Amino acid sequence: MDAEILIRVEGLKKSFQGKEVLRGVDLSIREGEVFIVLGRSGVGKSVLLKNMVGLMRPEAGRVIYRGKDLVRAEPEEWKEVRREFAVVFQHSALFDSLSVGENVAFGLRRMTRLSEEEIRERVKESLSLVGLEGIEEARISQLSGGMQKRVAIARAIALRPRVIFYDEPTTGLDPIMAATIAMLILKMKREIGSTSFIITHDLKLAFRVGTTLAMLHDGRIVFMGTPEQFRECSNPVVKKFVEGIPD
Ligand SMILES: Nc1ncnc2c1ncn2[C@@H]1O[C@H](COP(=O)(O)OP(=O)(O)O)[C@@H](O)[C@H]1O
Ligand SMILES: [Mg+2]
Repeated sequence: MDAEILIRVEGLKKSFQGKEVLRGVDLSIREGEVFIVLGRSGVGKSVLLKNMVGLMRPEAGRVIYRGKDLVRAEPEEWKEVRREFAVVFQHSALFDSLSVGENVAFGLRRMTRLSEEEIRERVKESLSLVGLEGIEEARISQLSGGMQKRVAIARAIALRPRVIFYDEPTTGLDPIMAATIAMLILKMKREIGSTSFIITHDLKLAFRVGTTLAMLHDGRIVFMGTPEQFRECSNPVVKKFVEGIPD
């Protein structure tokens, strides 16, 4: 039943100006999973994600992706990995000066040799997957936050990534839009078979879509298990988080 481990993080450490944020993070993600890292604001979730996708360099530890340690990978090796990884950033990080279609086409133009015709087709398909067909010509500034998030997801999936990393995909969205994004995350997994890695403090999202839930606290993963195990976990840190008990 167990799928192959796609990403294994081992002993990851990262500090800023002597302040240790990650003190030895260990986790493993299987192919096809929706892996969730939960944790309070400021605990280091975004830092963890950035270290996994090569936007930051850890002081110690390894990020093994398909047998390769990405922390020590050469730029040439990273080029290949970047085509298989997609990141949906918290603030969508779209280009305001470009149209929706150009935003979705951005990675396709830079990283593939698809023809204009093929790019147009892929953009159309990707927008349609997130329920936004026909808005190629729209400007980013005309769109609501929820629509921008969907465009960011369309841009991520345009390259048909093997892994999609989401940083707080529902933060700042209303409950209905948050539910829509949760459904989309599951749809992306189904339709393009991507493995998903999500960092969030949104428990509702975690229980809606997660196959494995991990809790980041005080620089380490203090619990990792199924949603049921997470809900019933006796670890006081997890219990307080699930029940929303203040310090
Ligand atoms: N580039 C940076 N330089 C200095 N400190 C940083 C940097 N990025 C993050 N931090 C610090 O690391 C800690 C964790 O931040 P972050 O990963 O953004 O938390 P969150 O769990 O809310 O995503 C915070 O104290 C933050 O100030
Ligand atoms: Mg963050």
